[in-house]
Amino acid sequence: MYLAAATEIAREAGALLARYFERRVAVEYKGAFDVVTEADRASEALIVDRLSAKFPGHTIIAEEGTGVDRSSEYIWYVDPLDGTTNFAHSFPVFAVTMALEHSGQVVAGVVYDPLRDELFSAEKGRGAYLNNRRLHVSRIDQFCDSLLATGFPSRKRHDDVNVYFFHQTAMLTHGVRRGGSAALDLSYVAAGRLDGFWEFGLNPWDMAAGLLLILEAGGCYTDMRGAAHLLRGPHVAATNGLIHHDLIALFADVFANRIRIPLPQISR
Ligand code: IPD
Ligand code: CA
Ligand code: CA
Repeated sequence: MYLAAATEIAREAGALLARYFERRVAVEYKGAFDVVTEADRASEALIVDRLSAKFPGHTIIAEEGTGVDRSSEYIWYVDPLDGTTNFAHSFPVFAVTMALEHSGQVVAGVVYDPLRDELFSAEKGRGAYLNNRRLHVSRIDQFCDSLLATGFPSRKRHDDVNVYFFHQTAMLTHGVRRGGSAALDLSYVAAGRLDGFWEFGLNPWDMAAGLLLILEAGGCYTDMRGAAHLLRGPHVAATNGLIHHDLIALFADVFANRIRIPLPQISR
């Protein structure tokens, strides 16, 4: 019931985003490099309205701040537009995502990419799907053969240390993608299109649905030090399970300043 409702609402919000994308929108700033658009707000208004109508007792936490605290053990996390910077530049990679937490556990989640009509969905204990196809994580078991993804926060960019992790992983694998939508990155790990993903400083609405997708597709996640990950944790690392140990071991080296591949000297 919850997943069906989330799917219907995500498709409606996705169609609305696609219409805004087509006609281009003005960019506004909510921080130095942190952008927001009319489309973020319109999508959030639609989702909060639909969720409130269907589940009037549930709490809603939504990125643009229009959620409602109803002191419920059911909490919806809503990102009305994940990939706003891409959207604002007409770079066609963005999604709408929402997930439901019940008594501390994420029980249902969806990520919808309206430009590709790809609906990633999962329900706890019932598998992960892309449209109607069951998803499984990849079988890549050699770290050097893996394709990874990460992201860099728009807020507090100057404080971010991820470039050190990016450099090491990029040198030791097939590469690291930076798509600009954490929700889609996580969905792609669930779909076997990527073998792993990590990021510092994500919010629960960015990752709740994607992490459930990964678990239900046979993958796993921890924080970047290998400890249990909390939705409000400082960082997350999610993989197909097979390369997890190697990724965390590499991160341990970077955290300890043991750089395996030195930066090249600039000589030209
Ligand atoms: C951002 C995207 C991006 C990630 C940032 C997020 P937004 O979300 O998921 O990929 O690197 O950390 O804030 O602002 O586009 O909803
Ligand atoms: Ca987001
Ligand atoms: Ca957003």
